[in-house]
Amino acid sequence: MCGIVGYLGKQQAAPILLDGLAKLEYRGYDSAGVCVFSDGFCVRKTEGRLRNLSTQIDGGAALQGNLGIGHTRWATHGAPSDINSHPHVATNGKISIVHNGIIENYLALKEFLMKNGKTFVSDTDTEVAANLLEYLYEQEGDLLRAAQAATKQLEGSYAMGILCIDRPNAMLAIKKDSPLIFGFGEGENFIASDVPAILKYTRKVVYLNDGDMVDFTADSAVFYNSLGEKVSKTPEMITWELSAAEKGGYPHFMLKEIHEQPKALCRTIHPRIKDGKVCLGDLTITEDYLRNIHRIYIVACGSAYYVGCHGKYILEKICRIPVEPVLASEFRYCEPVLGEDTLVIIISQSGETADTLAALRQANSLGARTLGIVNVVGSAIAKAANDVVYTWAGPEIAVATTKAYSTQLSVMYLLAMYMGELLGTLSREEYDAMLDAMQKLPEQIEQIITDENLAKISAIADDCRDNHDVFFIGRNLDSPTCMEGSLKLKEIAYVHSEAYAAGELKHGPISLIEKDTLVIAVACVAELFDKTMSNVKEVKARGANVLGLTTEDMEEEIRKTVDRYILVPKTHPLLQPSLNIIPLQALSYYVALARGCDVDNPRNLAKSVTVE
Ligand code: F6R
Repeated sequence: MCGIVGYLGKQQAAPILLDGLAKLEYRGYDSAGVCVFSDGFCVRKTEGRLRNLSTQIDGGAALQGNLGIGHTRWATHGAPSDINSHPHVATNGKISIVHNGIIENYLALKEFLMKNGKTFVSDTDTEVAANLLEYLYEQEGDLLRAAQAATKQLEGSYAMGILCIDRPNAMLAIKKDSPLIFGFGEGENFIASDVPAILKYTRKVVYLNDGDMVDFTADSAVFYNSLGEKVSKTPEMITWELSAAEKGGYPHFMLKEIHEQPKALCRTIHPRIKDGKVCLGDLTITEDYLRNIHRIYIVACGSAYYVGCHGKYILEKICRIPVEPVLASEFRYCEPVLGEDTLVIIISQSGETADTLAALRQANSLGARTLGIVNVVGSAIAKAANDVVYTWAGPEIAVATTKAYSTQLSVMYLLAMYMGELLGTLSREEYDAMLDAMQKLPEQIEQIITDENLAKISAIADDCRDNHDVFFIGRNLDSPTCMEGSLKLKEIAYVHSEAYAAGELKHGPISLIEKDTLVIAVACVAELFDKTMSNVKEVKARGANVLGLTTEDMEEEIRKTVDRYILVPKTHPLLQPSLNIIPLQALSYYVALARGCDVDNPRNLAKSVTVE
């Protein structure tokens, strides 16, 4: 959460900072600010969206200077307000910083600093870090040494851009547990939380490691590792286009990303199928290892966790190994029984979710083997896992995940097939059937998101816009789809919704069903269709209004029981969830639109959850 950007070169910094922040707004958007160095620090910051700041400084034209830092905030310490916004300038005006992360020991540090003459105006942990840096700078007389000393005292996570009043031509950046990239330009250099912020200016980047620092001017950059040693870094070239992180004519990123799913799936699946076999590149898992594992944990948060819930059904069915999906925030504190005979699969789009990263580190330290399913290349989770399978969904900007979720699911299929083949638990016939079906998924998703189908879903959404409580019910593989569909509706349309395994209704929640309560019944598991329809009849008998979702071949059957229905093409039973989720994503999108919600930037949320 929070995005930072920094620029040093020959151009006016402020417009570049605003431009970069606009690409980082997905990381937090409750306030924004910049600090530009001209005669001294010139700070402008304001509560609310970036456009407020931009208007205030005339798109950056109002701030002169070629060196600056910028920030877009998701509040942790202190409410969103002008004062709590970044950048923060230390007491004596010598240091100005932007920060993404959390300083866990900020209260103790603040007390110490107050005793030593520092004063505070905000509620933030970042102002404490700024003052610590200033205090140490005043002692050491050198910013680099001060920053090295500060990293020994700061507990928590940080990516920081640091300006010092005595260094009008230089910037220092430090990183631990929050993402930071350095971008090399011609006579200009950049820092940012993520590639899109600087891609317009350079493709040559370095992903900083934890403990790294970079001290740079417009023409030079010196990198240091966590031991304070100078290190050389080889830049990587970003190959994707900036258009991948822009709306490209769509009104919202979410709609664009829904439409990108066929291509994203092609990218994830096709290169991994060679000569009729699933090939997972660098994966080092062997048959011997697989034969000796007794349990697989799948650890993740939110939608990624629901992919893990699908993974339980898929992996257990194919590999016959017990699989337990666990929320990362729970896994960390439940003393999991882990060892060499446990495989821990970690799923994360951003690769930086705090709980997921901590769970991964815990699993590593307890001797389990870890495998990351990650979208963001070079992210902390990708670096820390023993093995990584990238989802290659491309940049996902909308806060509500769509294409990353879909590609995570496809990696789950690939992994299950790969492991099933090694173990000999998947017959050749079944293997070929899955392979064939998987390659058709992108085309089938295209069929679901035609303009005509989306118009129908949009009409249903208009009718649903005033429902206050929605229940999603489904069985077996339809159950995690319900959880994901329900989460989508909550997060972007602010509609209270619950997801229940259909068989559970009678054990309590059915008491909440009353006249016109909307129940969305996902009935795409063919052998359980009748059972789900029995549950539909139970809620209908209590007045519910039921929207059914099933496969095309079941149209005649479903129309007998529900009020309205949506159909999806049929595929291999284990792959069916990939198609079922698409109309539910679209439904949430259109309900959110109908309710006038800010689809891409829902309230209280941010894309990367880097706090516990
Ligand atoms: C919901 C959503 C979140 C994320 C969750 C994990 O639409 O996007 O629930 O799935 O915050 O994030 P990652 O995958 O980045 O670890």
